[in-house]
Amino acid sequence: MPINTLKVSRLSKHYGGLAALADVNLNARTGERRAIIGPNGAGKTTLLNIITGEVKPTEGTIFLGNRDVTSLSVHKRVNLGIAYTSQKNNLFDNLSVFENVCIAVQQHLGMFQHMLGFSESVEKVVDSALGLLNLVGLATEKKQLSSTLSYGQQRALEVALALATKPKVLLLDEPTAGMSPAETEEMVELIRNLPRLLTLLIVEHDMDVVFKLADQITVLHYGKVVTEGTPSEVRANSLVQETYLGQHKS
Ligand SMILES: Nc1ncnc2c1ncn2[C@@H]1O[C@H](COP(=O)(O)OP(=O)(O)OP(=O)(O)O)[C@@H](O)[C@H]1O
Ligand SMILES: [Mg+2]
Repeated sequence: MPINTLKVSRLSKHYGGLAALADVNLNARTGERRAIIGPNGAGKTTLLNIITGEVKPTEGTIFLGNRDVTSLSVHKRVNLGIAYTSQKNNLFDNLSVFENVCIAVQQHLGMFQHMLGFSESVEKVVDSALGLLNLVGLATEKKQLSSTLSYGQQRALEVALALATKPKVLLLDEPTAGMSPAETEEMVELIRNLPRLLTLLIVEHDMDVVFKLADQITVLHYGKVVTEGTPSEVRANSLVQETYLGQHKS
């Protein structure tokens, strides 16, 4: 059984006088699908950026499985299994969908490839890239230039690029932002069909998406965890009802 746990302990991030995060604890089990919700400026992206290593915390520790990764570089964390998809477009527009995934697979395999023969190594990259395109539903678009994909398909391709690093934990920052209802539905299906032992942290504003995907929810407010628990526990919280569910009450 893999240990795809992520533990964040007593995490704080100060920007001058502003506490973007204050004493945040979070424990995600192997295969857990945890949504992180909270109003604009609550600290959600800051939390993900600290987990990837992009931003240094003022205080606190991050454990991937049993390993303390707090002082490791972004690159080392990717190699250990922390992957991230942001809203920035990280695709090569002038390459095909297939080539984009091959490059990501090849980059990750890089350090192992000298152990394989040339044809074996090409085969491995191709197989792995095709498997990922199937997983994210882009097999029939593989020859298209990535720039010709719809917005929703480009976001799906970015998930494939993140998966190419063989993550244990995948961080998704607003995976459905800017999508049409149909694209949102497809992204929800894609996320639902990800490997069951992959641990997911999903920052998301769309509460329908949150309730469809999450088995645990963490609510951030002004940098603090105000509540966490299963969707039904979080739904019952009065602050959550006022902030998010006001219009949803029937
Ligand atoms: N590099 C920075 N320098 C100064 N302040 C920052 C920096 N990055 C974030 N902040 C501040 O930290 C707080 C948390 O920001 P963050 O981007 O994490 O919020 P968020 O919950 O992701 O919001 P949103 O829902 O709008 O994406 C905000 O008040 C923001 O202005
Ligand atoms: Mg954000």
